[in-house]
Amino acid sequence: MPPGAPADEAQGSRFSAAAGGEEDRALNFSLRPRSLEEFVGQQRVKQVLGIAIEAARQRTEVLDHVLLSGPPGLGKTSLAHIIAREMGVNLRATSGPAIERAGDLAAIVSSLEQGDILFVDEAHRLARPVEEVLYPAMEDFELNIVVGKGAGARSLRLAVKPFTLVGATTRAGLLSSPLRDRFGQHFHLDFYQGEELSRIIVRSAGLLNVSADEAACIELARRSRGTPRVANRLLRRVRDFAQVGGAAQVTVEIVRQALDLLGIDNCGFDAMDRAILSAVIDKFDGGPVGLESIAAAVGEEADTIGEVYEPYLLQEGFIARTARGRLATARAYAHLGRSRPGHLF
Ligand SMILES: Nc1ncnc2c1ncn2[C@@H]1O[C@H](COP(=O)(O)OP(=O)(O)O)[C@@H](O)[C@H]1O
Ligand SMILES: [Mg+2]
Repeated sequence: MPPGAPADEAQGSRFSAAAGGEEDRALNFSLRPRSLEEFVGQQRVKQVLGIAIEAARQRTEVLDHVLLSGPPGLGKTSLAHIIAREMGVNLRATSGPAIERAGDLAAIVSSLEQGDILFVDEAHRLARPVEEVLYPAMEDFELNIVVGKGAGARSLRLAVKPFTLVGATTRAGLLSSPLRDRFGQHFHLDFYQGEELSRIIVRSAGLLNVSADEAACIELARRSRGTPRVANRLLRRVRDFAQVGGAAQVTVEIVRQALDLLGIDNCGFDAMDRAILSAVIDKFDGGPVGLESIAAAVGEEADTIGEVYEPYLLQEGFIARTARGRLATARAYAHLGRSRPGHLF
């Protein structure tokens, strides 16, 4: 992937990784939940956010800045649009790497209307000078602009209309602390439970006009890496499979056949997940091994492994993270059918 490319854009062809490509964007557009009520799961986030939105509306105030973090495909972009919709304001979308110069951000911020949402995806990738324009804009709704050069340079203060910054990031830890501190609310999205993913799949199947029985939806949910984006993508592939095979309804048997064909195993892992586990076990004796070494062994960017693949492997207990690097757990050995060496980790 080219250095400046967001992880989200580079992974279009993978079946189960959560990052989205061109096809996904079109699909996600139609399947995206439009209100907090339609947004499945993340109960606590919805409650707290719902109260904040309601309170701001009652006071006819601008909503406090919101930071959304979590792995790709869990609903950050959807939530940003939902916030705008529920607040009844416009949303202006951009992303950290897309804003090259401080002046670009100043232009965007000064064009916002009262209460508008400025959605900054990949907020951890904002350039430092751009971030510095954001601080006073977030805090005092003011832009400090330097005009002219050398001895003639002057600093101008420009008031902007109060707005809400909604930042999204896959790596909250990489956000600079002055930026993080300026968000009034921070929500971390977790992987979804099987039952929640099932509900999302049932809803998507309805929207896509796919007839799928309950067992099929449960099986798809179980193999979707806890990620709605993956669930929707797999549903679509399974729909193709059923259609070409002349099946009127998607059954659990069809799901199994289709996912086997796609190389998605019983745990929902794809070839890259298995390559990562096998690298740690076979090339590095089960670890501990650093992310960079794993990346070199599997031929993928370390950032992509850290943001897209590793979170789910960690959450499911196939990999453990220690100060000295990543370790393959007993589950990883069992999954790949390897016997675990006798020494203790
Ligand atoms: N809580 C949810 N309920 C229903 N569908 C969801 C939910 N979260 C995500 N999705 C689906 O997954 C897709 C990807 O979500 P998105 O908001 O783009 O994730 P992110 O921005 O975190 O990568 C959405 O288009 C939507 O179809
Ligand atoms: Mg997104």
